[in-house]
Amino acid sequence: MADRVPLLAANWKMHKTIEETERFLADFLPRVPDAGPEVVICPPFLSLRTAVEHCAQSRTRVAAQNMHEEPEGAFTGEVSPPMLVELGVDGVILGHSERRQYFGETDEALARKLPAALGAGLEPILCVGENESQRDSDETEGVLTRQIEADLAHVPDDRLADVVIAYEPIWAIGTGRTATPDQAQEAIATIRGLIENRSADAAGAIRILYGGSVKPDNAAELIGRADVDGALVGGASLDPGDFAAIVQAAEPSR
Ligand code: PGA
Repeated sequence: MADRVPLLAANWKMHKTIEETERFLADFLPRVPDAGPEVVICPPFLSLRTAVEHCAQSRTRVAAQNMHEEPEGAFTGEVSPPMLVELGVDGVILGHSERRQYFGETDEALARKLPAALGAGLEPILCVGENESQRDSDETEGVLTRQIEADLAHVPDDRLADVVIAYEPIWAIGTGRTATPDQAQEAIATIRGLIENRSADAAGAIRILYGGSVKPDNAAELIGRADVDGALVGGASLDPGDFAAIVQAAEPSR
């Protein structure tokens, strides 16, 4: 098995005020093991500074949930890469299915956002995945191929390994319907194969996570599969005990 450090990312979506962020971290941070998987918390923009301050003395890192690709400009309501970097944020989720579905995020925009994030020194966590009808009609591989090729089009081969990809089947997000470990492994192996078409080195090094109804009781089995390098966790990451249990579940598998 390649030497990839597992990554557990908490996607809080539009949950937790600053005060709730402080309370979560006071409970959660002492539970994170001193060594082992990497841990990233992705709170709403307004809690980023608080999260960075609280995580400063820990191994836990902080990422945003979205950004604009330009460094500045007339883009009302948007946040730029240098603004995140100034706060001490380490990464950014890009292309989450909720942004694609509700906020018009396109593959064209993502093709600009990915190199912008890398150029600014942010680790992008790119989300891809099929919806239920696409899975039912055997289009999963085609959807993943289109998304990966389009979204990473302007990332040079020698930077591909600096991207994290999250395979998130839309039918599994927030539904309690987790993909089976076999389904997760198969889709993630497909994604790794797509990266291999561009660079064998990158394919061995790039981390590909699973996301969609990951819970403390299914995390170990999912993350234990050969190509699954961790998890992007929504609902279960809102509870410090549950998310800590998921982090601990990732430990013994490597
Ligand atoms: P979920 O969300 O764990 O609540 O299914 C995952 C995600 O949307 O990243």
